[in-house]
Amino acid sequence: MSTIRFENITKVFAEANAPAVDNCSFKVAGGSFVVLLGPSGCGKTTLLKMVNRLYEPTSGTITLDGVDIRELEPTVLRRQVGYVIQQVGLFPHMTVAQNVAVVPELLGWSKDKIQARVRELLTLVALPPDEYCARYPSQLSGGQQQRVGVARALAGDPKVVLMDEPFGAIDAITRSTLQDEMLRLQRKLKKTVIFVTHDVEEALYLADKIVIMREGQVVQYNTPLEILTHPVDKVVRELVGADDMIRQLSLVRVASAMTGLPPNYRHNVEHAKSTDAKTKLGSQPGGEPTVDCDDTLRHALSLLLQTGAPTLTVVEHAKTESGVEESTPVGLLSLEQIRASTPGGDQAKPEGAKGKPGPKVPRGSRARRCQGEAGPEGAKIDRKSEIVNLKS
Ligand SMILES: Nc1ncnc2c1ncn2[C@@H]1O[C@H](COP(=O)(O)OP(=O)(O)OP(=O)(O)O)[C@@H](O)[C@H]1O
Ligand SMILES: [Mg+2]
Repeated sequence: MSTIRFENITKVFAEANAPAVDNCSFKVAGGSFVVLLGPSGCGKTTLLKMVNRLYEPTSGTITLDGVDIRELEPTVLRRQVGYVIQQVGLFPHMTVAQNVAVVPELLGWSKDKIQARVRELLTLVALPPDEYCARYPSQLSGGQQQRVGVARALAGDPKVVLMDEPFGAIDAITRSTLQDEMLRLQRKLKKTVIFVTHDVEEALYLADKIVIMREGQVVQYNTPLEILTHPVDKVVRELVGADDMIRQLSLVRVASAMTGLPPNYRHNVEHAKSTDAKTKLGSQPGGEPTVDCDDTLRHALSLLLQTGAPTLTVVEHAKTESGVEESTPVGLLSLEQIRASTPGGDQAKPEGAKGKPGPKVPRGSRARRCQGEAGPEGAKIDRKSEIVNLKS
């Protein structure tokens, strides 16, 4: 997992009146999913292209795991950095399999290894290899082409993946499927991802942290939840729709709002297991309903209201090596935490919540990265009636 650091990065194109990227500084933690969000022309693509040296900064430094990328040969650097370009960019005269194999071939892998990798990746992006390997890009839908683009970027097993509006120009339903697949992939592969979009909802749903850009500058850099609850200015507030609580709940994932498991959780679960061997489907041994860490807060809220349970157990789903689906508890979510995720929420934290960090979310889990530096906070919802409306 590679850390990328941008230090005072500025890019001025020849004959331009203003810099395309203007003194940007931020750090992308290894294994995290960072989204660059901003209007057309604000410098997102330019910033991204400087990471694999398609553009060189006018001033400032970008480091990859502490190494100034100017010290790396561009070709060596680009092998470590997968890149999905803004317009998919598949080679039209090559089949799907040949497109995905481009980087492994450059890396000189054996034929067998390349073939296995292509099949593995197509399966990963939900394109059954037997059906799709031999097709040409023109024989695919837009969404399928985007998936091939993602598979191609991952092919050489890069440490870093840059994605420039990979789901742009795709209908809303396919886009939402691709976003879910992206989250699933990221949970499995744990790459360092910089993902560009100008779709606010996509950013709020996918990001561990969002860089909000305007006229080449970083306006705010934080978790989706922090940006929603503490937008730096009126423009960001309006951009992310920070005043619309219902919308927020539909966009923010459970992982950003939950607290970690209490220290004695596992012991209690073991105890419950030994005293009550039969646990209900979709619930933990303690009896609480479960919710996936990638579900939205709105879904979690309906579940709390439907079941009347005080707390939901948040689980992470993953397939074991043998292909069995397993769910691991990673946190807890109560109404209080959902309240804390709403505008003005932290003015009314629950007793004892202020200043005290919650229990820890497992190190290295996606859920932990989603919580970012901000961590869970407690608070109250002023507009209770809106919560009740969700029940219907
Ligand atoms: N090669 C170039 N030469 C000169 N100016 C450029 C070049 N590439 C981009 N620009 C300018 O730099 C600014 C930032 O462009 P960039 O492509 O980074 O925007 P963006 O945020 O990716 O926009 P979009 O959402 O439309 O893709 C724009 O004003 C653009 O016109
Ligand atoms: Mg762009």
